[in-house]
Amino acid sequence: MTRAAGRRPPVRRYHLAVLPGDGIGPEVTAQALAVLQALQRHQLLRDDAGNPVQVTLAIHPVGGAAIDLTGMPLPPATWEACRGADAVLLGAVGGPTWEDLPPEQRPERGLLELRRRLGVFANLRPVRQWLPPARGQAPIDLLIVRELTGGIYFGQPRGMETLAGGERRAYDTMAYTEREITRVARVGFQQARQRRQRLVSVDKANVLATSRLWRQVVQDVAAEFPEVLLEHQLVDSFALRLVRDPGTVDVVLTGNLFGDILSDLAGGLVGTLGLLPSASLGNGSGPGLFEPVHGSAPTIAGRNQANPVGMILSLALLCRYGLGLTKVATLIESAVAAVLAAGWRTADLAAPGEPTVGTQEMGAHIVAALLGAGSQTPRANK
Ligand code: IPM
Ligand code: MN
Repeated sequence: MTRAAGRRPPVRRYHLAVLPGDGIGPEVTAQALAVLQALQRHQLLRDDAGNPVQVTLAIHPVGGAAIDLTGMPLPPATWEACRGADAVLLGAVGGPTWEDLPPEQRPERGLLELRRRLGVFANLRPVRQWLPPARGQAPIDLLIVRELTGGIYFGQPRGMETLAGGERRAYDTMAYTEREITRVARVGFQQARQRRQRLVSVDKANVLATSRLWRQVVQDVAAEFPEVLLEHQLVDSFALRLVRDPGTVDVVLTGNLFGDILSDLAGGLVGTLGLLPSASLGNGSGPGLFEPVHGSAPTIAGRNQANPVGMILSLALLCRYGLGLTKVATLIESAVAAVLAAGWRTADLAAPGEPTVGTQEMGAHIVAALLGAGSQTPRANK
């Protein structure tokens, strides 16, 4: 059937809230936006059926940048923009400037509060072998599904007190409800079903009450996914397995704190944390939050040294999971793969003595690869 002339469907518009944040956040965000603009300008921004889509942006401060401007790490205008957006793209928050503020006023609080209010309980952190694996190593292709809005990051009570003798005592609470475990476990199993059908649930059930409940609930949810092979593993022994045998891991399901730690470890396995993106998803009623796994890296901020790949891959995840533009997501990922395969390296990726490029150059190479201009081998024939 042909479509009647003159009855083109209206162009679908998506609205993004963009929160560059602190440290290297603004620099890597600028490169992700350059990728988005190039896609838009060259009419590559299309839904999976090929219809053009349009993306509009609203840029807002968060974290330390927002504290400096408004005194609050998540100002009301930033929150309103996020709440009303189709997806939120965030750089990084935090830095030494704001370290001495009371805990409730720190930059990190803005990010945690944003995650909590958006209800993005499932944090997907794909870890792929973008660079050639070490000799004799199986290539790494795993996905960490980290619970993001519960556990010890949010449990009450928490705080610090001064005991009778003048000694200070601090405490946090790790707590999980069945409902919190069930919903993130389902995300883990669903992801495993679409991948290699293996899920390892990581806990500390030999010590922690929350982990014992975690294990039971995950085991119950497993009945809904008979095609997925479930294992349980203690977090200490799993950390060793991740270092020794990462090729045996498919999907990792774990709580907020363990997921935070294991994802930095996973970054080390594939070369650098600077490569890792993340997607934080809720129950679908609000926007997802997309941010690189790395932090604000204050020591290299403002020097055009940061690796923009984690951020650009987060934009790809935003396209895939936030807007349903799976072909655009794959296009961005292929461009990143091509540029890394061609040998372009930011400082964090380079072997000793290897030539490096800056944040902007890396972004420009990825844009060039996207547009099919091809990306030449660095220092050809050197
Ligand atoms: C991360 C970060 C955050 C976290 C910090 C900045 C609060 O380390 O996203 O991994 O601990 O979740
Ligand atoms: Mn972290």
